[in-house]
Amino acid sequence: MAKTEVDLSSIPLGKTVTIKWRGKPVFVKHRTQEEIDDANSVNLKSLPDPQDDASRVQVPEWMVVVGICTHLGCVPTTDSGDYGGWYCPCHGSHYDVSGRIRKGPAPLNMEVPEYVIEGEKLTVG
Ligand code: FES
Repeated sequence: MAKTEVDLSSIPLGKTVTIKWRGKPVFVKHRTQEEIDDANSVNLKSLPDPQDDASRVQVPEWMVVVGICTHLGCVPTTDSGDYGGWYCPCHGSHYDVSGRIRKGPAPLNMEVPEYVIEGEKLTVG
């Protein structure tokens, strides 16, 4: 299956880029320390799909998720919603900076694809 490579040095701190992988959007978010702290301060019991942030990242600075809403498959918008992550305008699902569903009809967190980070290079797939 095709892999997609991304030069992480081209993504400034605090920014998110969208790449294509197997025809799907993948969000690559360069998280600030504040965002990382925020993602780790969440009470897991409050989450519809409880997963701790550490289990969703390889390197805390880099959040990599398949950019497809787990409700009915729309593409959420970046840096939006009530939790500073993503917002799906189709029916109002709010995702946090870990791509976890926090509010709205989506049942699950956005999917973390297989990927490898080596130095400044991200390989998805
Ligand atoms: Fe995203 Fe329905 S498809 S909220």
